[in-house]
Amino acid sequence: MKLQGKVALITGAGSGIGEATAWRMAGVGAKVAVTGIPAAGVERVAAGLVAAGHDAIGIETDVSQAASIEAAVTHTVAHWGRLDVLVPNAGIQLHTADRDIHTLPEEVWDRTHDVNYRGVYLTLKYGLAQMVAQGTGGAVVIVASVTAYSGKSANVAYLSGKHGLIGLNRYVAVHYAKHGIRCNAVCPGALERTPNHDIHPDAAGRADRIAATVPLGRAGRPDEIAPLITFLATDDASYCTGASYLVDGGMSVA
Ligand SMILES: NC(=O)c1ccc[n+]([C@@H]2O[C@H](COP(=O)([O-])OP(=O)(O)OC[C@H]3O[C@@H](n4cnc5c(N)ncnc54)[C@H](O)[C@@H]3O)[C@@H](O)[C@H]2O)c1
Repeated sequence: MKLQGKVALITGAGSGIGEATAWRMAGVGAKVAVTGIPAAGVERVAAGLVAAGHDAIGIETDVSQAASIEAAVTHTVAHWGRLDVLVPNAGIQLHTADRDIHTLPEEVWDRTHDVNYRGVYLTLKYGLAQMVAQGTGGAVVIVASVTAYSGKSANVAYLSGKHGLIGLNRYVAVHYAKHGIRCNAVCPGALERTPNHDIHPDAAGRADRIAATVPLGRAGRPDEIAPLITFLATDDASYCTGASYLVDGGMSVA
């Protein structure tokens, strides 16, 4: 029970990695604020956790809206009196037919950065404000991506936002260590289902490419990412800060 008595807020927790992390953290004793959009997703996850005997609340939260993420932090602290673990995880991947930088619609760039980059900044802004005021330290785990490590991905808006998260991670590690706050990034490789999978232009082809190019021969699953996120949030990771950890089936070294 490595997170017993700790309060965790996870964004984008109504599905995928966020959902798996909510279960993993609750399983080691955390009280979990399951935040994200749509409301139905976060309510389903929170209700499942409560039904299994865990302590959780679902809060509809759009990380691209400052007032929404501020309200989620306020709601969490009103409910449990503290915030110890922050997981900025919400992300989108808008697949369009035109993905070269010179043909990419500006709206795709703007919306991707509003959620994936500015949304993490806003989550950090309000989450860190509470942790600093609380004065008891804390742990932040940012969910970035293997795409933060190269220029290969065709989706430039997604790739550049994820690169930005590595910088934010390092910044928080350096500037908030004096408050006892650690910050790390987890960088998943290709999972079975991408964010916005339904509009992926070639979902079947993607699966074949992953099988052929990832050393482990398959895509990953959210429950294979959640354990590292959870570990980094616990005191077992007390000397880990400012680092980025790949969980990619060997994709980046092949
Ligand atoms: N699936 C992959 O292959 C993969 C690989 C590397 C990194 N990632 C990253 O992992 C994170 C989680 O993605 P996932 O794979 O679990 O996909 P997912 O689509 O299941 O999870 C993303 C969640 O964020 C929510 N969301 C979208 N916009 C939001 C907003 N404005 N405010 C709050 N919540 C919002 C979605 O509804 C969804 O529940 C993302 O940051 C993604 O970029 C995923």
